[in-house]
Amino acid sequence: MVANCSSGDNIPKKGWVIYNGFLSWGKNREPADQLCEAAIRLGEDLTAVANCDVRIVLDENGASVVGDRPDYVIFWDKDIRLARSLEAAGIPVFNSSEAIEACDDKSLTGIILAEKGIRTPKTIVAPKTYASCGFCRKEFIRDAIEILGLPVVVKENRGSFGFQVHLFDNVEDIEAFADRIGDTPFLLQEFIECSQGRDIRINMVGRTAVASMYRHSANGDFRANVTNGGLMEYHQPNNREVDIALKCMDALGLDFAGIDILFGEDGPVVCEVNSNAHMKNILMCTGINVADHIIRYVVSVINNE
Ligand SMILES: Nc1ncnc2c1ncn2[C@@H]1O[C@H](COP(=O)(O)OP(=O)(O)O)[C@@H](O)[C@H]1O
Ligand SMILES: [Mg+2]
Repeated sequence: MVANCSSGDNIPKKGWVIYNGFLSWGKNREPADQLCEAAIRLGEDLTAVANCDVRIVLDENGASVVGDRPDYVIFWDKDIRLARSLEAAGIPVFNSSEAIEACDDKSLTGIILAEKGIRTPKTIVAPKTYASCGFCRKEFIRDAIEILGLPVVVKENRGSFGFQVHLFDNVEDIEAFADRIGDTPFLLQEFIECSQGRDIRINMVGRTAVASMYRHSANGDFRANVTNGGLMEYHQPNNREVDIALKCMDALGLDFAGIDILFGEDGPVVCEVNSNAHMKNILMCTGINVADHIIRYVVSVINNE
């Protein structure tokens, strides 16, 4: 357990923000700290708690938290089992374990969005393999390219900041990639050429697009991620962009999200949906503190239950 951010006289409900306690990487704690600072500003009681410091016992009586239990949890980690255990203990969790799980796997996100008729780049999910054999049969790669064309985008199912997203212009390089990654699940995806190096990030909280930015690559990279060298500009999303973002929120059951949208030839195309989008860049770009919006939203949901 780290900073206790409680303040205020009217006994606010007690919240936790969960972050991953194993990752030592500095940016990992940033959103939890930002949310705690927002809670202090808004007079709410929020404590940053590492996933590895929570003890939950599962038995025939259900799930119970050892020691203090919070009234609600803002979950800023991908530890789906912990999120699910907290839900099993009857604690409201934002985002839900189900929503985080769906967003943490780009293939699963794509399947759910396709089921709901939401526009994404045409996608083919690589078949599952095992560590002992890897992708030892590669016919599916050539078949996928026949449908998707070249160049083609290849994404590991899990990844962030554009680090696990690649653009390949020939079959041999994709086959070599498949050899290198062992049994890591991935997908192949149509390259949305007119969006090369540019996209839109919309931060949604509840039903509202609270902040948005246009990102464009400054170094010729096809990825617009800021961590990957992209530049940011304030963006006012149009109705079609907000509409597709709302559809993603509903399809994936999200309370808040960072939604990446590509410029398709005839309108917005969903690139990916982040259940735990970092909030520092959007703050720097727009001056809007998404953390304040999240705290207000969560507290209003909790108080109206
Ligand atoms: N199908 C695509 N066509 C064109 N550009 C893409 C496509 N998919 C991803 N990109 C670019 O790559 C970036 C990173 O991809 P994304 O799926 O958002 O992964 P990450 O989780 O690493 O941010 C996007 O922001 C976008 O600029
Ligand atoms: Mg992204």
